[in-house]
Amino acid sequence: MPDPVIRGRFISLEGVDGAGKSTHAAWLADALAARGHRVVRTREPGGTPLGEALRQLLLTQPMTHETEALLMFAARQEHVVNIIAPALARGDWVLCDRFTDATYAYQGGGHGVATEFLRELEERVHAGCNPDVTLLFDVPPDVSRKRLSDCARKGRELDKFERESAAFFERVRAAYFERAHAEPSRFRVIDATRPLNDVRADLARIVATL
Ligand code: TMP
Repeated sequence: MPDPVIRGRFISLEGVDGAGKSTHAAWLADALAARGHRVVRTREPGGTPLGEALRQLLLTQPMTHETEALLMFAARQEHVVNIIAPALARGDWVLCDRFTDATYAYQGGGHGVATEFLRELEERVHAGCNPDVTLLFDVPPDVSRKRLSDCARKGRELDKFERESAAFFERVRAAYFERAHAEPSRFRVIDATRPLNDVRADLARIVATL
C-alpha cells in the first residue's frame, strides 16, 4: 500500500452516458494543476494498453453480463497495479473517468449481475485502493438520451452501452444513487443538467475542500 503520508488523492468521476463528465474532467484536471498538484488523468475501462484493448471489446462485442464484469475488473487490475497505485504512491492526484462504482451501476444495476459477485471481484482486485472522492454527474435519462441522439445525429457512432434503452439508464442511475446514499462522505452528487459554468462553480467549491 502507498505510504499514507505522501499518498495523493484519488478522485473518480461517474454518471450515466451523456452526463458530460468527460468535459468536466478536462476542466477539473486543469483546476487541480493550477493549485499545484501533479495530476494523472485516466479512464476506465482503459488506462493501460491492455485496458484500452479490453475497452474496444467491451464497447463493441456481445458477451454475457458476467463476462462484461470480469473484463471490467481485468482491465481494472492492470490499471490499479500499473497506473493508479504508483501515481498515488508518488503523491500525484489521480482523476479517473469511471471506476468500480460504474461496474455496480452498469453491470449490477443495469444488467442485474449479482452484487456478491461484484463485491468479491472488488475485494480481490483493489481492496485498499478506493477513490477518496467520487463526483457523480447526474442527469435524468431523457436528458442523457437527448444528448446521445444529438451525438449520433452529428455522425458519431454510439457504442454498445450508449445504445441501451431508457429503462436500462434508469436502473443505472438508481444504482448510482443507492451507492451515493450508502457512502455520503465519499460521493458529491452534481446536477449536471445545469449550464456548464454553474457545474464548474460547484466543482471549484469541491476542489477547494479537498
Ligand atoms: P465512457 O463512455 O464514460 O468512457 O465509458 C464507457 C462505457 O463503459 C460507459 O457506457 C459505461 C461502461 N462501463 C461499464 O459498463 N462498467 C464499468 O465498470 C465501466 C468502468 C464502464
